[in-house]
Amino acid sequence: MEPLERLEKLLDGEQFEKIKSIDNPELHAFLAEWIEWLEPDRVFVCTDSPEDEAYVKWKALYYGEEKMLEMPNHTVHYDNYYDQARDKANTAILTPGGKPLPYLNTKDREEGLKEIRELMKGIMKGKELFVCFFVLGPRNSIFTIPAVQLTDSAYVAHSEFILYRKGYEEFKRLGRSARFFRFVHSEGELDERKTSKNLDKRRVYIDLEDETVYSVNTQYGGNTIGLKKPAFRLTIARAVNEGWLSEHMFLMRVNGPHGRKTYFTGAYPSMCGKTSTAMISWENIVGDDLTFILPVNGVARGANVEKGVFGIIQGVNPEDDPIIWEILHSPVEIIFSNVLVKDGKPYWNDMGVPIPDEGENHSGKWWKGKKDAEGNEIPPSHKNARFTVSLEHFPNADLEALESPCGVEVGGMIFGGRDADTWPPVREAFNWRHGVITMGAALESETTAATLGKEGVRAFNPMAILDFMSVHLGDYIRNYLDFEKRVKKTPKIFAVNYFLRENGKWLNHKLDKGVWLKWMELRVHGDVDAIETPIGYIPKYEDLARLFREVLNKEYTREDYEMQFKIRVPELLAKIDRIEGIYRKLDNVPEELFQILEEERR
Ligand code: PEP
Ligand code: NA
Ligand code: MN
Repeated sequence: MEPLERLEKLLDGEQFEKIKSIDNPELHAFLAEWIEWLEPDRVFVCTDSPEDEAYVKWKALYYGEEKMLEMPNHTVHYDNYYDQARDKANTAILTPGGKPLPYLNTKDREEGLKEIRELMKGIMKGKELFVCFFVLGPRNSIFTIPAVQLTDSAYVAHSEFILYRKGYEEFKRLGRSARFFRFVHSEGELDERKTSKNLDKRRVYIDLEDETVYSVNTQYGGNTIGLKKPAFRLTIARAVNEGWLSEHMFLMRVNGPHGRKTYFTGAYPSMCGKTSTAMISWENIVGDDLTFILPVNGVARGANVEKGVFGIIQGVNPEDDPIIWEILHSPVEIIFSNVLVKDGKPYWNDMGVPIPDEGENHSGKWWKGKKDAEGNEIPPSHKNARFTVSLEHFPNADLEALESPCGVEVGGMIFGGRDADTWPPVREAFNWRHGVITMGAALESETTAATLGKEGVRAFNPMAILDFMSVHLGDYIRNYLDFEKRVKKTPKIFAVNYFLRENGKWLNHKLDKGVWLKWMELRVHGDVDAIETPIGYIPKYEDLARLFREVLNKEYTREDYEMQFKIRVPELLAKIDRIEGIYRKLDNVPEELFQILEEERR
């Protein structure tokens, strides 16, 4: 039977009409195959209409995956206590014969597809399947990648409506020419708290060949929101094949003198200051997580892949994060996940105001001092608890840049890690290759709560992308180096480190990053001189002292400057050795990488 005939049997009339309006036989075949396989009781197809979006939101409440909070438009969602972060161990790239790739879990494609299909056979019996259409990047633009999401989680679909641009009309417009991504997700069986139960059968498998990601027996957004981190694996591979950059980077506007607008991207591993940099109140946010950078007529142009934020809520407080604080306390649409709720109000760790010592949280009913099965005390909220909100609600969002069909010119790219004793707070690379290798490819940080496992260990994390890598690291770096040939002028590259410590004390205040941004903006345009050091250009004291006064209304002492910007030679040499050692162990690394590290060492 033809796919459309099969779909006509599987869907009720209204839903079938919605699918039939999209002229794409490949899509029809995919839907028919998976709807038959998953065996949902009901199928709902989401068009771009407000009614369909409202239906999904209502279903998230109806099925109990979200609960209403006191503030209108606020809901809370909980994931299973042991499903609070990305599951690296059970995430795999499917490769022919399970061909290994450095740092990645791989699995034989045939075997992986067979396993995931078995896990998903009939998994939606008794449930409703949502078929949703979204796009990555602005609609009808050079960046657009259409995607279809199948999920039995109304929470996942709801999250996507907040985070991505609607794509049903785009599918209709593109018809047969749509080169689309596919995401198949099932939360699996739920417990009485409506959280995924069969975590031993949790899997996230990435099939680059069919540009499809399968995710099962999990709800945590990092594993399930198809267009976010699952799609990122697919776009990295596409970008390397096609000669552009798909990066784990924020996109923001830094406001220079006389109304000048300069756009920066920034890659930092989770909890290294990426979100707080992108959201700094006196600059303008375009995106906080994922950026596509395309060479367009010789210019590197960037666009936010998303239109919303799935941000970590721990530590958000009125003093340091006034904008997010305000948004989180206003009646705009927000999903809180894995926070503490008491009397319909959400609370989280380190929010800077007193919080109740009982309520409901990611562990169920909670009281202060409660321990988990492993004997660990359970904090009020999970450290990876999140908020999901659209960028349109940010008073400082640059919405014009967000929806620009040809993106914005990227002036600077920032790499930021977490290290107590090696990198200065800010520096500029000598050139593209120097920045790509000694800043991007050499990025290190401490491990964070966004992955399951130990915290506080210094980890190699090139371009902050390692957890999402889907191709050979050597090929990825080669593509990065080659990007120089595709543009007339490359963006300037910078490295930052907000976490220097001396005798256990932080050397920088949280807001100092605002000064580094202004300095980088001036450097993009050659407005200030800098000091040449063996590791790049660092700011002159006078320029920073002036910027500290202008930006933070603070005196900056020469003593602080020297303490922060001294070149820590033994630590830097040790780092070069460490990074070289890591790359020496891999095959297929561009020779240029070793040359650049050697130049730096000398
Ligand atoms: C995740 O990795 O779980 C995720 C959603 O991404 P990030 O931590 O980069 O926000
Ligand atoms: Na849930
Ligand atoms: Mn991220």
